[in-house]
Amino acid sequence: MGAALLRIDELTKTFGKNTAVDRATIQVDRPMMIGIIGRSGAGKSTLLRMLNRLTDHTSGQVVFEGRDVTALKGAEKRAWQADCAMIFQQFNLVPRMDVVSNVLHGTLNKRSTLASLFNLFPEADIHRAIDILDRLGIAEHAPKRAEALSGGQQQRVAIARALMQDPKIILADEPIASLDPMNAQIVMDALRRIHEEDGRTVIANLHTLDTARRYCDRVIGMLHGRIVFDGTPEQLTTGVARDIYGADASFSEEATSTEIGALNRTTRPAPIPA
Ligand SMILES: Nc1ncnc2c1ncn2[C@@H]1O[C@H](COP(=O)(O)OP(=O)(O)OP(=O)(O)O)[C@@H](O)[C@H]1O
Ligand SMILES: [Mg+2]
Repeated sequence: MGAALLRIDELTKTFGKNTAVDRATIQVDRPMMIGIIGRSGAGKSTLLRMLNRLTDHTSGQVVFEGRDVTALKGAEKRAWQADCAMIFQQFNLVPRMDVVSNVLHGTLNKRSTLASLFNLFPEADIHRAIDILDRLGIAEHAPKRAEALSGGQQQRVAIARALMQDPKIILADEPIASLDPMNAQIVMDALRRIHEEDGRTVIANLHTLDTARRYCDRVIGMLHGRIVFDGTPEQLTTGVARDIYGADASFSEEATSTEIGALNRTTRPAPIPA
């Protein structure tokens, strides 16, 4: 077997008698954008959380660049967590803190306790934080409290905080589930651009089929903890989608669709307006 970038091997998580993730096996050979779909309870969040060690796995392995990251402890584990930054549906910002400080928190695990305690950030980091915010089109909001921003802007702050860690992988758990279609598009375009321009791998749990199809190079479908589909958007036919979401369910394209399509996205993500 060749050296894969990321190899998830028979990864399993059980909660009591419930198997949340059942022997998930995924190989990623090069940086790409991957969407994970499946109905509620399929195991999507648990899979992502095991990847960056927020949740301990029950069995199996995650090997990144030849290293078993499920075995890492202490500082090495924290370094891995910086390498695979996570963003969440609810942004997880500190609401009353200003935007740039929220972004700078992405460097916290690399700084001394004393510096963290006094909120002392190196000037170079501050400049970098502003540059990242600028790249995401929200530099003008840097001094504002995070809570004063719209949901889409807050999610871009969360992406900026993730980028501050210079991660190799960005894990996104339903990054657009709380956003309106316009902001959903801006956030997905930003993630796509980060993948294309920086060569970072993006793995996103997505609650809608059309977003996965539109933005991802590869789509993984989960059902009852198992991976039941792994292929290109073209291979993800309506029949396959019906299997992923469950044949019994009242599956419809509409039920798993946002309105991003209506916003007329071009084949390439549009530049983010300044
Ligand atoms: N901390 C926990 N303790 C016990 N069971 C859990 C825990 N976290 C998840 N589960 C169970 O594991 C299974 C998978 O949950 P998970 O949150 O990974 O699904 P999901 O695909 O992300 O669903 P959703 O689309 O609703 O976010 C579910 O049966 C869930 O109840
Ligand atoms: Mg989830």
